[in-house]
Amino acid sequence: MPAPQYEKLNFTEKHSEQMLAQSHAFYRDIRERRSVRDFSNRPVPRAIIENALLAAGTAPSGANQQPWHFVAISNPVLKGEIRQAAEEEERAFYNHRATPEWLEAIAPFGLDEHKPFLEIASYLIVIFAQKAITDDEGRQHKTYYSTESVGIATGMLITALHLAGLVTLTHTPNPMRFLNQLLDRPDSDRPFLILVAGYPSEEAQVPVIKKHPLERFATFIEA
Ligand SMILES: Cc1cc2nc3c(=O)[nH]c(=O)nc-3n(C[C@H](O)[C@H](O)[C@H](O)COP(=O)(O)O)c2cc1C
Repeated sequence: MPAPQYEKLNFTEKHSEQMLAQSHAFYRDIRERRSVRDFSNRPVPRAIIENALLAAGTAPSGANQQPWHFVAISNPVLKGEIRQAAEEEERAFYNHRATPEWLEAIAPFGLDEHKPFLEIASYLIVIFAQKAITDDEGRQHKTYYSTESVGIATGMLITALHLAGLVTLTHTPNPMRFLNQLLDRPDSDRPFLILVAGYPSEEAQVPVIKKHPLERFATFIEA
């Protein structure tokens, strides 16, 4: 068993007014994030995607196993192949796989099997959750809490891209195993979702939706 080693925490205390102001400023900014389905083909510099991925890579993870892999694709041929495979799965989903309840839940978003954004948007970031990882000595290990860990890293990635001035769509064609084959990923990598990233089209619209008020989704238990 390796013995734990420690280092001094890097922590800078903020004044309480600054804490309040920053937490409020962050909320004001992040509440403008929306899932966008209408992208421009304007290219995004790779450095922005790299920085957002570096931010995602700082996420907490079970036993610090970092059980994620991100494939960032701007290659037009590969984007076309992903679109074709995703639309095939989506056609089956909308025509017979989806339950009536599921179709009802997504009805307000006007979705169908057509996914042009998969080719138009500058980047597709395909995110995999690793059920097993290989250590530096080449040994395979099972991962712990990979779904939770990858969910957190994905949230940080979405936030980083939003703060960088881009828009995203969380896209989950159902099922997604075709991504392993197209992207040459091992079976132990489970496709988590496709994060579509880029600039919105000039006339992009988003569905009118409401977010729940704090009292509905949070409970405070105080002295
Ligand atoms: C796990 C997950 C899967 C999603 N899958 C899809 C999808 O396949 N296609 C789609 O158009 N939107 C998808 N969405 C986007 C949701 O519809 C969207 O987040 C929701 O309507 C709230 O809108 P907002 O993101 O603009 O706040 C998904 C979102 C999440 C978190």
